[in-house]
Amino acid sequence: MDIKTIGIIGAGTMGSGIAQVMAASGFEVILMDVKDEFIERGMENINWGLNKMVEKGKMTNEEKEKVIDRVHTTTRLEDIAKADFVIEAVPEIAELKFDIFKRLDVLCPEYIILSTNTSSISITRIASATKRQDKVIGMHFMNPAPVMKLMEIIRGKNTSDETFTAVKSLVGRIGNIPVESKDSPGFIVNRVLMPMINEAVFALMEGVASAEDIDKAMTLGANLPMGPLALADLIGLDTVLSITESIYRETGDQKHRPCPLLKRYVDTGQLGKKTGRGFYKYGL
Ligand SMILES: NC(=O)c1ccc[n+]([C@@H]2O[C@H](COP(=O)([O-])OP(=O)(O)OC[C@H]3O[C@@H](n4cnc5c(N)ncnc54)[C@H](O)[C@@H]3O)[C@@H](O)[C@H]2O)c1
Repeated sequence: MDIKTIGIIGAGTMGSGIAQVMAASGFEVILMDVKDEFIERGMENINWGLNKMVEKGKMTNEEKEKVIDRVHTTTRLEDIAKADFVIEAVPEIAELKFDIFKRLDVLCPEYIILSTNTSSISITRIASATKRQDKVIGMHFMNPAPVMKLMEIIRGKNTSDETFTAVKSLVGRIGNIPVESKDSPGFIVNRVLMPMINEAVFALMEGVASAEDIDKAMTLGANLPMGPLALADLIGLDTVLSITESIYRETGDQKHRPCPLLKRYVDTGQLGKKTGRGFYKYGL
């Protein structure tokens, strides 16, 4: 079917970024979150991202306004039923995602594809919350979504070839580059990345070096564009913890045991860039 309207659930770090990408690619967007204040924060993120593009000369002010006009917001999940394609981007909590997919399955027409931006939860398990397992798929955007070109596409056990092809075509329309991963904990990127971030937090906890020096060592020593602790702040420490816990739970492998210091940061609400404080301080 011809996809014109994308429904996005969750207007946080990823949902707002994905909304920006979709609206900038010409799609109408219905962006849903549970509270007006979260929607407002999401729209501020989109505005900020688009202003950056205007500053860099990649977009005119007039084009920016048109992109913003294509983003329609709501706090009612029922409004997502008007979308031709759905992307879920709520926090990395399995039960929350299962519940949302169960509700979406009832609300959305049966031919609509329901995708999830989960970083680590099994697509097969999410699909099992619906009666359309063939139309559920993982579409894992990277952060920040408007900047990062990679897209991991993950099929659940019963995802159909038609669904996979439709998603691949959508990924092409927004100019992203797809890789296909099996439905395995952490898929490709987080399976490799989360142990590195977690180990960097262990190194910090054990006093091996300061946060600055751990990041400096990894940027200059491993030729990374950003150190693991700064990257964790960008991802959100709550999200890093949820992904690591989920991979640990799914694999049972001790190497994925979340560092206690990461938990302490999350306990105190220091979640990284989005709260102004994580391993580093940010001006909000
Ligand atoms: N942050 C990253 O770097 C990153 C990268 C790729 C994928 N992901 C994945 O994307 C998803 C979202 O992560 P995030 O970093 O954007 O989280 P976030 O905490 O920034 O945003 C989540 C949003 O979902 C909203 N929400 C909570 N319950 C909801 C509900 N019932 N209905 C609608 N909205 C609800 C929250 O209010 C919040 O605005 C997670 O599955 C995460 O693993 C995150």
